[in-house]
Amino acid sequence: MTEIVVSRRADATPHAAALIEGLRDIGYSLETAVSDIIDNSITAGAHRIQIITETFAEEPYIAIVDDGDGMSEDDLVAAMRPGSRNPLATREEPDLGRFGLGLKSASFSQCRRLTVISRKSGQTSAAIWDLDDVAERNEWAVQLPDDLTGLPAIEHLGPNGTIVLWQKLDRLTGGYSHNAAKRAEVINQRIAETERHLRLVFHRFMEDAKPIRLLLNGRLLQPLDPFARKNPATISDPEEKLTLIRGDVEIQSFTLPHHKQMSKAEWEDLGGPEGHLKSQGFYLYRGKRLILHGAWFGLCRQSEITKLSRVRIDIPNSMDADWKIDVKKSSAQLPPIVRDRLKKVIDRILAGSKRTYQKRGQKLVDHERLPMWHRIQADGQIRYRPNAEHPAFSDFADSLPPDLRRGFFNCVSLVGASLPLETLFADMAGTAEQIVPDQVDEDALSQAVQAVLTRMLEAKKDMKEIIALMKDNDPFRSAWEDTQRIIAATIQTKEDK
Ligand SMILES: Nc1ncnc2c1ncn2[C@@H]1O[C@H](COP(=O)(O)OP(=O)(O)OP(=O)(O)O)[C@@H](O)[C@H]1O
Ligand SMILES: [Mg+2]
Repeated sequence: MTEIVVSRRADATPHAAALIEGLRDIGYSLETAVSDIIDNSITAGAHRIQIITETFAEEPYIAIVDDGDGMSEDDLVAAMRPGSRNPLATREEPDLGRFGLGLKSASFSQCRRLTVISRKSGQTSAAIWDLDDVAERNEWAVQLPDDLTGLPAIEHLGPNGTIVLWQKLDRLTGGYSHNAAKRAEVINQRIAETERHLRLVFHRFMEDAKPIRLLLNGRLLQPLDPFARKNPATISDPEEKLTLIRGDVEIQSFTLPHHKQMSKAEWEDLGGPEGHLKSQGFYLYRGKRLILHGAWFGLCRQSEITKLSRVRIDIPNSMDADWKIDVKKSSAQLPPIVRDRLKKVIDRILAGSKRTYQKRGQKLVDHERLPMWHRIQADGQIRYRPNAEHPAFSDFADSLPPDLRRGFFNCVSLVGASLPLETLFADMAGTAEQIVPDQVDEDALSQAVQAVLTRMLEAKKDMKEIIALMKDNDPFRSAWEDTQRIIAATIQTKEDK
């Protein structure tokens, strides 16, 4: 760069009122804002963190109370300064912070009045950033209240710890600033939506040997492990380590159990409001705290075949610059060297899921197995066609006079030709687990059972073989109890004859 001579400088101190308003809009949501405050509590060594909301009061508030180390008044004033620490400074390993901004920017994103009350070594201090006060005075100066009694939630503070108190919740009113009941409803709804995010983001801390207890209005939140490691049907691949200059990246892939291997509640909890299709992908943790999830970083599509795959990536805070961690701790970018390694992980996952699907498809293709449908692959296309030779069709056709028989096969092939592929595909991409074969009534099922049974017995197959085959094929598989009953009754009738 060419050297430019500078002999004068002019004051360009930011306007407090303008800049502090600008800090409000760097893209926090209530979830990410609360998480940023909880990060600070965890870094301060807290083990019990309470979120207390008073939504029906004339002046509603949200308080986050911890039992961490607390701060002296000097520490507190320093902490209230936007940019309290240099992002370039090295931080200790368990420190979840980076920018010296989170406390302020997260709070202002939700409210116009932030009070921090902290107790350390028997001394209680408080400091307030009130955006209306800053607007009026246009000064970078926090208020230090003379009297702390009567500050909301102060009774929850233990021998040491900190309260972050949000008042003037102008961003959470949903437009109902003058309707207390409606306003409370909106805030409560938003808080309820935050719950799952917190259970997920901090699950590793909540599962620790010395766990962090997160309470929402007195109710203990349960960790939400996105890999369902407690479920014995979850498949965990071995952990891989990538050693880089600024630290190690640890990678581990998991395959969640099939939805039939867990309760409906557990399945829905794991999928969340977005559903399983959108929850597959990488789960990136920075110092055990989840930063982002439910994306493949553009390395692969979120498809039905990889729906149960989730990959844990762990990084230390020493790699923040390489990963371009943002102030909100909710986004990151892949360093190229890691991208190459993750591409390999994805290739392996894709190969694995394709094998599983091919195995399932095999059953349909295998002629020995009497499928109701044929899968025909030719000229780069795949067709599905009802199997006219299936005994359920052919035996019935045999009982018809020749002219009706042709009509019957025409009907069957029409069903095959009008398979609603687009709708099926759209449904599969959304909620595949809710798509089930249609139920057949007793009469239809019984006709199919009898036809198959007769054909098999004629072919001298033994009963064990017949049962195994039928159990694997629809419509019998999905109505297995009824099928078994009909088989027993049919055999009884045959023996009686
Ligand atoms: N609950 C708390 N208990 C003790 N100290 C706290 C607490 N919250 C904040 N602090 C202090 O205030 C400082 C400023 O917090 P702030 O969240 O603004 O920045 P940070 O955590 O250092 O970095 P980041 O912007 O990445 O969150 C912290 O570094 C910490 O020293
Ligand atoms: Mg912080």
